[in-house]
Amino acid sequence: MSEFAAVDVIRAKRDGHTLSDAQIDWVVDAYTKGVVADEQMSALAMAILLRGMTPAEIARWTAAMIASGERLDLSAVTRPTVDKHSTGGVGDKITLPLTPLVAACGAAVPQLSGRGLGHTGGTLDKLESIPGWRAGLSNDEFVRQLQDVGAVICAAGDGLAPADRKLYALRDVTGTVEAIPLIASSIMSKKIAEGTGALVLDVKVGTGAFMKDVDMARELARTMVELGKAHQVRTVALLTDMNTPLGLAIGNAVEVEESLEVLAGGGPADVVELTLALAREMLAAAGLDADPEKVLQSGAAMDSWKAMIRAQGGDPDAPLPTARETEVLRATTAGVVESIDALEVGLAAWRLGAGRARKEDPVSFGAGIMLKVRPGDTVAVGDPLLELRTDEGSRISAALAGADGAVRISQNAPAPTPLLIDRIA
Ligand code: URA
Repeated sequence: MSEFAAVDVIRAKRDGHTLSDAQIDWVVDAYTKGVVADEQMSALAMAILLRGMTPAEIARWTAAMIASGERLDLSAVTRPTVDKHSTGGVGDKITLPLTPLVAACGAAVPQLSGRGLGHTGGTLDKLESIPGWRAGLSNDEFVRQLQDVGAVICAAGDGLAPADRKLYALRDVTGTVEAIPLIASSIMSKKIAEGTGALVLDVKVGTGAFMKDVDMARELARTMVELGKAHQVRTVALLTDMNTPLGLAIGNAVEVEESLEVLAGGGPADVVELTLALAREMLAAAGLDADPEKVLQSGAAMDSWKAMIRAQGGDPDAPLPTARETEVLRATTAGVVESIDALEVGLAAWRLGAGRARKEDPVSFGAGIMLKVRPGDTVAVGDPLLELRTDEGSRISAALAGADGAVRISQNAPAPTPLLIDRIA
């Protein structure tokens, strides 16, 4: 006899009641073990989406997800540990320059990352465009590299928050991804189980993010910050704009190239600004007094990048894959670029092969989009707006059709929009 009946837990949440600690512990554990069926968890997830959860319920749900798996022990790492998590955006390659930069400033950065699904790219897909680089490390290799190099970006092992792995896949196909209690507990259970001492969250807001609304993003950020603190992880969140893609490159290898420009002391202004803003927050949370701007200019972050890539079998000097075909979208009216829609650009890059439709699909490393303009630029008829890159020419027409409306041109200069919207601590 089980302690509870799943249907009673579902009914309780459906009717707006608060779940008890025992109900939460039981349902998360029973779902992980396959005792609660997918259809029952789908109904509960939908009830949570519609009814919400109290802060105490979210804290308990997160603790139950952590308890579903192992917790990494980073006590052998002598440097202060600090991680960053982004809720996902278009052109968001910040982890790539940020991780080695913060390591070069004296911290250890344990970045457990994922692969992309849909229009937002995955950090592992980007790094896998580097010849030889491997995403899978054992726990021992992970801790050793963290100690020796200070920077690791790799796939989370199967043992970490297995309840989340199962639940996230279910939410993805049941319209229940967007529930703040479920997003917050999903992200924070993995970050807390990973064992980091401090965490900086980059909560994206805008068309290319799944939080389209700033108030919702603020609530998500507050919920995650509280969860981190409750588990003794020093946590800070920045709310950042995701209406416009970050940088000029959207794809896999092209985003690695752009990250290398940043590590070499150049790169697009917005990518540099966000990398430095997050680095400053990470260093403060780790209790380190270093100037990331100076470290970036000194070349030490590039050295740290090369060591990190080599430690995982990659050749940091090997040429990166390029796409077989390119097509340029040009301006048909003259004026000023008013906006570049992150979602539309992300979807077009995905159609070109940079992303995957199902989690088992391969990605094309060379595919993607290069922005030839930024908001505020003046354009004449015939000027290039976007360069589309793909390995399969048959993908171009659908991508072009989608990308066509992404760049809006008007007669007036747009009001400048700040990249950094808010800070929640
Ligand atoms: N990323 C996660 O890890 N979980 C979510 O629920 C949403 C984004």
